[in-house]
Formats: sequence, C-alpha cells, structure tokens
Amino acid sequence: MRRPKKDIQLTSYDELLGLEETPEKSMNQVVEIDLAKLYPFKNHPFHVNDDEIMAETVESIKTYGVLTPALVRPRPEGGYEMISGHRRKRGCELCGKTTLPALVRNYTDDEAVIIMVDSNIQRENLLPSEKAHAYKMKYDAMKHQGSKGEKYTADMVGEAAGDSGRTVQRYIRLAALSDALLEYVDNKIPMIVGEKLSYLKPEEQEWLLEVIINSSIFPTKQQAEQLKECSANGKLNQSYIYAVLLKKESSKINVAVLDAVGEMIGPGVTTQEIDDLVHSMTVRMGGIQAPLNYEGFPKSVCTSINEVVCHGIPTPDRVLQEGDIINVDVSTIYRGYFSDSSRMYCIGEVSEEKRKLVQVTRECVDLGLTMVKPWNFLGDMAQVINDHARKNGYSIVVEIGGHGVGLEFHEEPFVSYVTKAGTEMLMVPGMVFTIEPMVNAGTSEIYIDEKDGWTVYTQDGRPSAQWEVTVAVTNDGYEVLTW
Ligand code: MF3
Ligand code: CO
Repeated sequence: MRRPKKDIQLTSYDELLGLEETPEKSMNQVVEIDLAKLYPFKNHPFHVNDDEIMAETVESIKTYGVLTPALVRPRPEGGYEMISGHRRKRGCELCGKTTLPALVRNYTDDEAVIIMVDSNIQRENLLPSEKAHAYKMKYDAMKHQGSKGEKYTADMVGEAAGDSGRTVQRYIRLAALSDALLEYVDNKIPMIVGEKLSYLKPEEQEWLLEVIINSSIFPTKQQAEQLKECSANGKLNQSYIYAVLLKKESSKINVAVLDAVGEMIGPGVTTQEIDDLVHSMTVRMGGIQAPLNYEGFPKSVCTSINEVVCHGIPTPDRVLQEGDIINVDVSTIYRGYFSDSSRMYCIGEVSEEKRKLVQVTRECVDLGLTMVKPWNFLGDMAQVINDHARKNGYSIVVEIGGHGVGLEFHEEPFVSYVTKAGTEMLMVPGMVFTIEPMVNAGTSEIYIDEKDGWTVYTQDGRPSAQWEVTVAVTNDGYEVLTW
C-alpha cells in the first residue's frame, strides 16, 4: 500500500504578492487537495452542468492545468467545503485529475455565503432560479451580519452583478416558490407571473403544480393575480385553481359550440344534426361532450322542445318546425374541467305565449345574477328568480335545479330556484355554480318519459323554457364563466 498523499504545499498568493505571512500559514497558501475531500457548498444555488462551457473548461485544464485556485474552508467534520470552484472541480473530475489547487480560508458562514454568491453572480446566462436562491442567501447573510434597512441591503446584494436593489428584491420574492414552480420560471413561466405566484402558501403551490402538470396550462399574469388575491383572502382551493386556469379554455369551447348551433338552427333542421355539430365541433376544439354516456345518456347534447322541460334526446326523426322553442344544453370537459350552459332558440315566428316565456326566463337568470355576491345566500338568488316567474304567472320546476361545476359535472351544492331568501348555502368567493331555472308556462309538475328514462315533460303539456349560465362568486360580486 502506498503512503497516503499529503496535501502538497504550493507558494501562497500572499507570498507571491510579497505580503507578510500570517502565523496561520496554511490558511494563506494554495494547496493541492484531493477531490474526494472537497464537498459542495451547503445549498449551493448555482448549477454545475456538463455543457459546452464545461467542455471548454476541461480543454483548458488539460492544456494549462487549473489556473485559478478554488476557495475552500475546513469543515469541522473533516474535508473542505468549497466556496468557489465547483465547476473547476467538475472539470478536474472529467479530465481524470484527482486534486484541485485551492486556497484554504477560515471564513464564517455569512462571509462564506457572500463570497460564494459574488464569485458566481457575474456569470452570463444564470437562470432565474439560480439568482433567486443566490440573492436570498446573500441577503440573509448580510442581514445576519447586521446590515441595516431592507432597501440598503438589497442594493448592496445586487452591487456585485450590477443589479438594482429592486431587481434583487424581485429575485428574492421568487425564492419563496417551491423548487418545481421555480424551475418553470426558468423556462415556461415569465418572472412577473412567478413573482405573483410566490405569494401562494406552500400547500397552495403544490395544488397549482398538480393542476399545471395535469393540464399543461401555465397561468397568465392576470390569472396569477387572481390566485394571489384569492390566497390572501384564505379562499384558495384546488378546484378554484382549476377554475382560474381552465375555465376560459373549457368555456370557450362551450360558448363557441352554442354560437355555432345558433348559426345552423332553424326550420327543417333535425335535433340529430344539432347533436352531430356539437359532437364534431367539441372534439375538434380538443374537448369532450360531457353528456355522452353520462349515467347512460345516449347523445352529446340535450335538445328540449316546447313542453319538454329538459334532458330531451336528439333524434333524426325530430325536425324543427316554425313555432318551436328549443333549449340546447351544451356541457364540455376540457382537460378535466367542466363547463355547462344552455340557450333558448325560437324557430321562425313563435307564438306570443312562447316568446314571452323565453324572454321572462332569461330575465329570471339576469335577476338571479344580480344576487350573486359573497355572503349572500343561494336562497336570495332563488327568491328573486321565483318572484319574477310568479309575477308573470309562471311556475318553477322544484325537483330539478342547478349545481356546482368544476372537476365534476355536478358538484355540491344542489341549487334550487324555489327556496326562500336567507336560506340555503352561503355564497363565498371562489364558488362556481350554475343558474338554470326551468320555467313552466303552467304548473310546476313534471314527469319523466318511461321509455327513454330521460326526457322530462310538463304535466300539463304547456311549454317550458330554460337558460343556463355558469357563474363564479368573486371577491365583490360575480363573473359569468359560461353562457
Ligand atoms: N346540462 C345538464 C345540466 O345542467 C346536464 C344534463 S345531464 C345529461 O345539468 F346527461 F342529460 F346530459
Ligand atoms: Co347544468
């Protein structure tokens, strides 16, 4: 067995420069240290990649050796902690060298952090995540050392890289992001968006990450602001994050499909043709028609004509006639997020009775929306809808109502339009539900078709109308998501 190699003593920098030697001689000398004795700096924020620049470093080491010694400090448990020189060490490994020249100094933790950061921060092409962690570490070290005033400290932190205190503070903000989200700021998410997201609590950031991974959708600046605000109010949950990120995409399809139905619908069109259009257009836009196979529903859309209240099944036999009123109820799933809305269409000239029923039903929804704000009750909304319908001599279906909507087609709560003001669930910011009263010209009684198990009719055979919107409760009112 060979004698273990001693650290070889080289001429110290100070000697070379003609400086006086201190009593702790080794502390000021460049020594060759075994790579195995070198440990990376704790929480070293800078990446050491085997990239093109590393290839150049390797070439240079092969030709000239390591020209600039690393800076290290002794570890109490043995070996040395590297303050600068992580890339040179990697270069040595790649060339098959077993030692690295290094200057050993006894720096305090704070001094070591500051030097470690400053010796790397001027490098080009640093990633936001590297700067974020580095500036945060240096800032904390300077604060710890007793630097006074946040603005002053931030200015000092940025000095080495020529960054303003404001820029430093922005990077430090980013350091509050989880590692996974911060990595997205390196490639997919703009810094300004990352800053806003950094205000989310750790658990909320985890939810967001999951939503991003599941949907491959990244928040916009405006959406990030929405999430931040909601988090500050303590109202953020995973389904709200889904709603914020995906609602627009999902709703966009739902609304575009209903617009297209409006273009093609008219006398002579069959309800099957409507179904075909809904099916093909939804799929073309990247969505899924939620009704198809929902609890056995056989088609892609509900088409409910005249005395049909809801859940009418499209068929090639039913040809729309002048005078019909029809509700087309479209529901879309986009990347796991549901949207749901329906509209009435009058086919050609319709009777005054039907025209007014369609009109008043729409007014009911508009009135209901005015009652959607935080800390109102669902019953407050129901009461104005019911009052308006009754004032016009109509009645509202009791058994079927609206629902929460988001990660599932039908979520809590059940939304009735016949309950009283001051009752039912409290509306809170972030809640998403449908307003979809079924308004009957005659009595509220209904029955379900025995043969198909779906189609709902008015008991008295008089017409029924329905409009459906999906609405979100915001901090100070409502936002219509889908109509
Ligand atoms: N869109 C309808 C609703 O508002 C859903 C109908 S379920 C179906 O709840 F299966 F009939 F499509
Ligand atoms: Co619905």
